[in-house]
Amino acid sequence: MTEAAARTPYGTLPAAAPLPPRKPVSLPRLLEMRQRGEKIAMLTAYDATFAAVADHAGVDCLLVGDSLGMVCQGRPSTVGVTLEEMCYHTECVVRGVRRVQGTVWIIGDLPFGSYQTSREEAMRSAAALMQAGAHMVKLEGGGWTIETVRFLVERGIPVCAHLGLTPQTVHALGGYRVQGRSSEQAEQLRRDALALQDAGATMLVLEMVPAALAADITQQLPRCPTIGIGSGNGTAGQVLVMHDMLGIHLGKTPKFVHNFMEGASSVRDAMAAYVTAVKNGTFPDNALHAW
Ligand code: KIV
Repeated sequence: MTEAAARTPYGTLPAAAPLPPRKPVSLPRLLEMRQRGEKIAMLTAYDATFAAVADHAGVDCLLVGDSLGMVCQGRPSTVGVTLEEMCYHTECVVRGVRRVQGTVWIIGDLPFGSYQTSREEAMRSAAALMQAGAHMVKLEGGGWTIETVRFLVERGIPVCAHLGLTPQTVHALGGYRVQGRSSEQAEQLRRDALALQDAGATMLVLEMVPAALAADITQQLPRCPTIGIGSGNGTAGQVLVMHDMLGIHLGKTPKFVHNFMEGASSVRDAMAAYVTAVKNGTFPDNALHAW
């Protein structure tokens, strides 16, 4: 395609634009980063342009999160998001990343109702996200999900697990609140995390878990990098919802969010500042952003 043919009236994503050189982010590379102690910087993304900019800014992993239910669709929770919608947004992100010859690792979120009924249903849903271009799928919960994770991993699907505050079960949890505060809850989280690693999960999101507990779980999981959100700075990496870290919101944000647009002259610079802060350990600050 000539450059003129590739030009579009909207947006400025060039066809096959080169990125600053970096090796593609792969599963072995993420595990190697965990072992070396290099923090993993992850953001959510839902569309082509923001995904390309995040890749350009050096973000390691993009999560096409079902948080799109809130930030793109205006829903009160993630519960109403469908598999078809997740596949659509995953395709958008993948297209944007490919346009800039991207190197970022892309994770597709399995939405509520797409993996709970049976392991076979989980496999069909995970296959749909992988065919949309995801490199890995994410699902929420411990307990019964452990055998589902094993089933998917045995069939060649890299899996990211998600413990602590699991937004798809917000109604059962009684609201968006810190998880693992009591010693029983903390023990259960430790047990689930170890069992998920044993089942083959190669990444684990820990959401709104006390910082000391998240750091402790991280130490127990050498083969499964933990990615914290509201869980302190002792995890192997961090994730934020993109809109939150760009300060795009009306009203109050959770305490674990920092607005990286403050002091930045572009979205790309804000994302690059986030990557730097995660990698050098200045974000999150346990005194400000954790419990
Ligand atoms: O859906 C999402 O964006 C997530 C992150 C908040 C971890 O699950």
